[in-house]
Amino acid sequence: MYWEALDQATILAEVNARLAENASYGRDEVLGLPGSFLDRKVFPDDAPFLDSSPYLRCLLENPNHIGCHTLVQGENAFAGTQQLEREVLRLCAEEILGAAAGTTDGYVASGGTEANLQALWAWRNELQATQGVTAAEIAVLHSEDTHYSVVKGCGLLGMRRESVPVDPKTRAVSEQAASAALAAVVAAGARSVIWFLNMGTTLFGSVDDYEPIRRALQATGLPYRVHVDAAFGGFLYPFVREDNPLSFAEPDIGSITLDAHKMLQAPYGTGIFLARKGLIQHVETHEASYVPGHDYTLCGSRSGANAVAVWMILRTYGSEGGRTFVRGLLERTDHLCRGLDALGLSYFRDPHMNVVAIAAEGFPREVAERFNLVPDTHEGAPAWWKIVVMDHVDLPLLDRFLAALA
Ligand SMILES: Cc1ncc(COP(=O)(O)O)c(C=O)c1O
Repeated sequence: MYWEALDQATILAEVNARLAENASYGRDEVLGLPGSFLDRKVFPDDAPFLDSSPYLRCLLENPNHIGCHTLVQGENAFAGTQQLEREVLRLCAEEILGAAAGTTDGYVASGGTEANLQALWAWRNELQATQGVTAAEIAVLHSEDTHYSVVKGCGLLGMRRESVPVDPKTRAVSEQAASAALAAVVAAGARSVIWFLNMGTTLFGSVDDYEPIRRALQATGLPYRVHVDAAFGGFLYPFVREDNPLSFAEPDIGSITLDAHKMLQAPYGTGIFLARKGLIQHVETHEASYVPGHDYTLCGSRSGANAVAVWMILRTYGSEGGRTFVRGLLERTDHLCRGLDALGLSYFRDPHMNVVAIAAEGFPREVAERFNLVPDTHEGAPAWWKIVVMDHVDLPLLDRFLAALA
């Protein structure tokens, strides 16, 4: 993993240069598009700070990145900023997630949910086309800790879903549990499988171990596809695990979700869908005839400013800055865990993640509420309280929390 950090002047110049390559609603003759700059009464474009704020300038210019620009050029009017989106996708797929050069497609989606739905949609269509199965004959399997977007996706796409129990201590899916779940879906008529892995579950930050799952999948003899939901851990885990097993270096893994609006602190609207080349064609909407190159995404129109924001963050830090940032989060998480150990509290934490799920039994609710901890459920008594050590969670805040607990 390596990419260079750029200084602020270079970043400003680069975004401005790409914006200048776009058609500008204010400067150019744009008659056909159903878009314009942001409303000028509400968002005036003459504020002096705009000259040094390329992201805000881009928001006002309002480029639409509709389509998939790793595959086709798309809307010519916004070709400038589409280049920055392509660079974001390349850095994520190749530098962070180990893909070989030029082997992946993707786009900046509205969030982790959309990227997960896009993956399920694409794999469903691909399995239907290549294996001759119906949607009802495809089973989606995932650990019980998986994000609820998988429930939405299977409901929308008419696929069967099977939640696989995890070991309550390690949060891992055993080969035995995977085999039992596979046997259940086969008995119910499944003829192919999508396995939905996690790089950082929502509540625990747990990272699935693929090896036992692979053995169980291979034993069925069924065609299977593997997606990784790295919405939570994708901008964290690979920075501290050079040998990250859930990357495109693993041939079974065909698609990955990232979410820049979580750990990367990008604005909301910056999920990232990545897939090996050859998959996204299965969700081409040919009827999108007014979109140059057609559409391959769930969302259709989307803000180019989001891609620019992610590009600016990745380029401001560079890979080394990213590593240093993540190490800082993990050191503070270690500090929290040492404090919890000293207090004799039990919790789950993956050592490469910044999430700590504390067992709720005996844990004082008033402390949880004062510090805005998140429970596993708002319906009835929680079993876990979650802490995520983000940028704003500094040592003094953690110490105040530990002191309140003590
Ligand atoms: C693991 C995981 N996947 C997907 C999502 C969905 O992300 P979003 O809320 O951006 O749609 C979340 C949200 O917390 C998540 O934790």
